[in-house]
Amino acid sequence: MPHSSRRPRKPYHPKRIVSETEDGWSRVEHTAPTRYGSKPVVTSSLPAVDRSLTVQKLLDEHSRCKQQWIESEARRWLQQLLARQMPEGGWSLNKAVCVALGSPSLSWANRVRSVWQLIMFMDLVDMVRPNLKHADVLKLYAQEPRFTSLDKDFLQSLGVAVLEPPQAEELADESALIFIPCLEWLLELPFMLVAVKSQLYVSSSMHWIIDEAERSRNRLSADTKSDTSMLEQCDNAIVAAKAILDTHHQNKMPEADFADGHSLALTIYTLKHEQED
Ligand SMILES: C[S@@+](CC[C@H](N)C(=O)[O-])C[C@H]1O[C@@H](n2cnc3c(N)ncnc32)[C@H](O)[C@@H]1O
Repeated sequence: MPHSSRRPRKPYHPKRIVSETEDGWSRVEHTAPTRYGSKPVVTSSLPAVDRSLTVQKLLDEHSRCKQQWIESEARRWLQQLLARQMPEGGWSLNKAVCVALGSPSLSWANRVRSVWQLIMFMDLVDMVRPNLKHADVLKLYAQEPRFTSLDKDFLQSLGVAVLEPPQAEELADESALIFIPCLEWLLELPFMLVAVKSQLYVSSSMHWIIDEAERSRNRLSADTKSDTSMLEQCDNAIVAAKAILDTHHQNKMPEADFADGHSLALTIYTLKHEQED
């Protein structure tokens, strides 16, 4: 029997690498095999924490932006929409999960956008809360790998429990209000799979997700060495996004011109009632 002291080579399994770009997007790549094993294709660094900030300053900023939000046309639009599309007997929701908020305290261009999105998330919950079908509590959660300890203290002071990935993926179910203000489609996929049955799902746009997943699919199909599991993920995302479009009303928030000049255009997906098609 031939004998060799050389250890058999381990089969190569590509791993998913999620890295961050400066503008807050997550880049999802796969490891590449090298002589020494696999190594990430992309490395990344996060912007520094804005050291001038404190929980109190974030709370003051939150109150200032909230005042503008309360007086806005966009908020009136949201109130009217929820009143029109509330299911008979009220909302069957028992938790609210915010995913991919970004960090309110890192020194990056979109810091204040995260504060605005948090205000919208919390206000949406306040609008739904008086009309819940079963539960009288609707607990708030937020998951964002970029949260600093200052962000976590800020959120906790507002009554929002912080989750560490993948706790949100595990917690989200059809009784969750899911709020995702911009996430890379592959990372949004686990949430889309449950959002199909959720009565209230806020996201960027299912059409955008379909376009992005189709683009990735075309790129992967052109590469003979591409990973078939990634192709499957593209297909799953396309199917899930189309299912959400079938089962939900799509309500595009009007572009709001807030003083800080931040675009907050989101799409509110409300589950169609049984008698609707
Ligand atoms: C494009 S940024 C959006 C940030 C902010 N919502 C905005 O609109 O400016 C996407 C965010 O998703 C976050 N992210 C990536 N993976 C995540 C995960 N598994 N759960 C929650 N957030 C995640 C990233 O850290 C990043 O801040």
